[in-house]
Amino acid sequence: MAGMTGPDGSRFLRACRREPVDRTPVWLMRQAGRYMSEYRELRAKYEMLELIKAPELSCQVTMQPIEAFDLDAAIIFADILPPLEGLGLKVGFEAGEGPIVYNPVRDEADVLGLASLDVEEATWFTLEAIRLARRELESRGLPLIGFSGAPFTLACYAVEGGSSKDFTITKRLMMGRPDLWRQLMDKLTALVGGYLRAQARAGAQALQLFDTWAGLLSPEDYAEFALPYNRAVIREASQAGVPVIYFSTGTNGLLELVARSEADVVGIDWRIDLGEAWRRLGPGVAIQGNLDPVALLADWPELERRAAGVLESAGGRPGHIFNLGHGVLRDTSPDNVRRLVDFVHQYHFEEGS
Ligand code: CP3
Repeated sequence: MAGMTGPDGSRFLRACRREPVDRTPVWLMRQAGRYMSEYRELRAKYEMLELIKAPELSCQVTMQPIEAFDLDAAIIFADILPPLEGLGLKVGFEAGEGPIVYNPVRDEADVLGLASLDVEEATWFTLEAIRLARRELESRGLPLIGFSGAPFTLACYAVEGGSSKDFTITKRLMMGRPDLWRQLMDKLTALVGGYLRAQARAGAQALQLFDTWAGLLSPEDYAEFALPYNRAVIREASQAGVPVIYFSTGTNGLLELVARSEADVVGIDWRIDLGEAWRRLGPGVAIQGNLDPVALLADWPELERRAAGVLESAGGRPGHIFNLGHGVLRDTSPDNVRRLVDFVHQYHFEEGS
């Protein structure tokens, strides 16, 4: 049932352009991952980076949730960290620790020493996975989403060297050496812009920027140290002629600034009512979100009530893409995912409401 008439007329891409749709489109951030037994079976055989660097395996993982659920879009299976290898950073994933950058960027010499390798060479495996996945998705009439970390969120990992609660090393560099910060962000912006364009050329039909840590910034710092670079990469990606989704978390104090990123679609978390977020962003953007991922751990009646709440906040206006406010959690039951996706598709808005 998903898809309508081929990828260009798919309800996901139509909603990105704020065109009317027959049903609210739905996909889920981290829709492929450890909550699925199919994924865990592959991960028992291959490390995370092995999956990402083998295009056939990335394509296979991309298709796992598509085969299991009636989703309206696929997202290429990759991660935001490996493209940092294009700057000469060494990236890994360690069990229980998440992502690691083994040679983090801490001082002037580190920033000046960053490489600028050919982005297509540095990310060839994901670009090839996109080509393979497009072929698989074509017959189903489903579009494929490519993605990148946003410059600020990538800077967080590049400077901190891994996950952190408050990224103090990163923010100290930003506050203490704004000149160095700008040089680092210029390099990340060139990398991200080139990577997004390359993904569109390889066949991605929409592009999402993940700015997971933007909510660590005050409005003033966001405006000065993150927003200009987001705008630059979004402009560059838009030249490829595909819609761009800008997703961030914890940014409800900065939504008016987020609206200035010039994205076609803004992804929001669950900490704000979707209708209120849309009013603050203005009518010129589509909106993606925003069910709390923890709701998927609840019993069906409670999950249904909360999903209906999100749909009612959107009010059936063109330009709503149903999603979570962040990625699917590993304890999620696939059965709840199936019921949620079908519920969104079956939902009917009251006339005149
Ligand atoms: O959405 C999708 O299905 C596409 C795949 C995808 C992954 N990571 C796969 C992944 C996407 C879009 C990402 C983005 C990503 N990666 C972000 C931004 C979105 C967000 O969640 O905030 C960030 C911050 C990262 C960095 C990252 N990668 C972290 C913090 C972790 C560890 C956390 C965890 O869940 O273990 C990863 C690893 C990772 N990326 C996994 C997956 C499926 C789990 C790895 C495993 O199988 O062990």
